[in-house]
Formats: sequence, structure tokens, C-alpha cells
Amino acid sequence: MKLGTPLSPSSTRVMLLGAGELGKEVIIALQRLGVEVIAVDRYANAPGQQVAHRAHVINMADPKALRALVEQEKPQLIVPEIEAIATDELLNIEREGLATVIPTARAAQLTMNREGIRRLAAEELGLATSPYAFASSLAEMRAAIDGGIGYPCVIKPVMSSSGKGQSKVNGPEDVEAAWNYAASGGRVDAGRVIVEGFINFDYEITQLTVRARGASGKVETHFCEPIGHVQVQGDYVESWQPQPMSEKALQAARDMAKKVTDSLGGLGIFGVELFISGDQVWFSEVSPRPHDTGMVTMCTQRMNEFELHARAILGLPVDVSLRRSGASAVIYGGMEAKGIAFEGVAEALQVPESDVRLFGKPESFTRRRMGVALANADSVEEARERAKTAAGKVKPVTGS
Ligand SMILES: Nc1ncnc2c1ncn2[C@@H]1O[C@H](COP(=O)(O)OP(=O)(O)OP(=O)(O)O)[C@@H](O)[C@H]1O
Ligand SMILES: [Mg+2]
Repeated sequence: MKLGTPLSPSSTRVMLLGAGELGKEVIIALQRLGVEVIAVDRYANAPGQQVAHRAHVINMADPKALRALVEQEKPQLIVPEIEAIATDELLNIEREGLATVIPTARAAQLTMNREGIRRLAAEELGLATSPYAFASSLAEMRAAIDGGIGYPCVIKPVMSSSGKGQSKVNGPEDVEAAWNYAASGGRVDAGRVIVEGFINFDYEITQLTVRARGASGKVETHFCEPIGHVQVQGDYVESWQPQPMSEKALQAARDMAKKVTDSLGGLGIFGVELFISGDQVWFSEVSPRPHDTGMVTMCTQRMNEFELHARAILGLPVDVSLRRSGASAVIYGGMEAKGIAFEGVAEALQVPESDVRLFGKPESFTRRRMGVALANADSVEEARERAKTAAGKVKPVTGS
């Protein structure tokens, strides 16, 4: 693909569907290559909209609104940043040749619903996963648990992310509450859940995997160093790179990542989530886009995951090499308010080899991710300490 001049007839236009903190970084990477960027989100002044050429606020789950905007803006590439999109319409848009969907419309569709991606991974590709079943009622859910999944297990709405509506069920007394919680936390269809056997893993990783064109023009697969992370209530709070792994586990992780990304196809970065115990690896899920735990790459890799995505989708070569061990720690809003401010940034940046990103979200919630602290060190352990210390110094306060 040749790259044009933004805001001219030759422009290379990319539309981001979802413009949160991950989209914002993808947009910055695209801007650096002179790409014209259109940022779409469900609310005004989303982080990515603040750095794009144009911004639109629409309901991206509404197929008519989505099509109308694509016809108006005529992007060559459409880059989904979130899962809750009218993916049927993306399939139509791709089929009619209106735009290329990154990595593919099918990948966006399969991964927006846990059932699609789990059945593909486990039943078609034969990857090891937790034992699982799907249920559309409390009675079906009970039957699935009693019929083999057992306790403890994890209940998740089939359409949800960031741990929303997800809970661990330790015994029969927790089952009804888990169903009700899932029904309230799901995104679109409140009526269906996945029941997963609980995996007692030693640690979990994100295997960032990039599909990009090589010198021959053929698509090649590249693996970043594994990223370790800690999740609280299904939401990432800390990540680091590289996560030490046995040679066997690393090989198994990359084999799985290759299989699933080969199947999803297209160009771009994928975050393959895996659970590891000893040499054993289980596939959990995959994002066909940059991953929140991958924010650590902003301080660890020669090209961070957003730059890798930008390059890959434009057909450019990538370099996934690690530069230095590092870690990230999330900065939460800690309050429910609009237009908040942050104190302590100077103190945070006193921490050796640290950095801070504030996303600029217009509204804070107690558990909303408002920023991230990054830090490098000779060891991952020290980098984690530094990142956590830096994040702890940043204090959200009311804006006025
Ligand atoms: N079967 C399981 N066994 C053990 N732990 C699990 C299981 N499923 C999920 N978890 C834990 O919960 C976390 C979140 O689960 P999952 O990735 O499925 O949810 P999610 O809502 O898609 O989260 P995100 O959007 O942040 O990736 C996992 O990273 C893991 O720590
Ligand atoms: Mg996940």
C-alpha cells in the first residue's frame, strides 16, 4: 500500500472503531506515518478522538449508523478497537469491498462472542482449553456444572470484556448469584453464559503475535516476548515483559498462537491469552488487536504493540525485538467525577526509568483505568516494583 498525504485526495484513511487508550496509541503511530485517521466512539472526546483528524460519536452496535459513517468517510481500513460492534455489517462492508476490516471481519465476529472463539479454538483447531459448556438459563447452567464441569468453575457472559459479569463459583450455594451477576454484566445478549472449569495455573501470559508482510510480500508470523500479568476481578492491574517460561511451555504457547492467528487471518497484532502450569499450556482467548496488558511494550520493545499494529496493517515490515525488561501498573480513577486532575506526576517520574501515560478520559469511575505507569529495570521484579511505586504516586483529585 502506498501512503498518501492526509487531508488530500491521495490520503490513506484509517477508521478506528473504538478510540480508548489502546486506540489512541494506534492513532499516534498511524499519524507518524502520515495516515489520515478517523476516530469513532460512543462518547465525545474519547482518548483517541483527541489525537485524530476527525471524530464521530455513534452507536457502533447499530449497523445502519456504522454503514452510513463508512460510506461518508470512505476509509481504506477499518480497525476495530472494541468488541461491541455490529460485526454482521462489518462482514457486509468487507464483502462489498467498501473497506478492509482489520484483521478480518470474521475475526472480529468470532472474538466478540466467547462461544465463537472457544468453539473454533477447542473444537476446530484442537487447542487445549479449560473444560467448558454454554448455558442459556440457570437450570442449564446448573446441569452443565453437575454434568461434568464441577467446582470450582468460572461463569462469564458470552459477550463481555474486562471481567464484567464474571465470577468464580466455589460450590452450589454460589450458582444462582453467578447467573444473576452474569445476566446483569453482559453486553448485548444477557441470556447466555460460558461455564469454564477453573484452571489452577502457575501464571498467565499474553503472547502478542503479529501477522505482517515480509520482504517477499508473503504474510509472516512474529512473536513478541511473553508478557506476564496479574488480573483482579478479570481486569488487568499489572503486566511485565519478559515472563520467564520453560522452553517447552514457550514452544507450546507459540504453536497455539500460530494456529489460532493463522485461522483468524488478515494482518495486524493479536493478544493470545494463555494459562501456564509447568510445561502445560491452555488457550483462554484472543484479541485480534492490541491488548491492554501489552501497554508494557511502550517501554520494553523497540516498536510497541501499537506501532507493530500500525505497521502490519499498512503492509509494512515489523520488528518485535525486546529492548529492556519492564513493567506496567494501572492508575485507576478512584472516584466518580468528570474532568478530574492528577497530582503526584512529578513524584511518580522521580522513580528511576519510569514513565506515565494519562489517557485524558473525560469521566472517571472508581475502577476506570485512567492511566498507566511504566518502568524499566535490569530485572522484571525490580521493574514491577518501580511501576507500582510510580502508579501509587499519581493521585486522582477533583478537577475544580
Ligand atoms: N477458566 C479459568 N480458570 C482460571 N482463571 C480464569 C479462568 N477464566 C478466566 N480466568 C481469570 O480471569 C481473567 C479474565 O478472564 P477472561 O480473559 O476470560 O475475561 P475477559 O472479560 O475477556 O477479560 P479481558 O477483556 O480483560 O481479557 C483471566 O485472565 C484469568 O485470570
Ligand atoms: Mg481476557
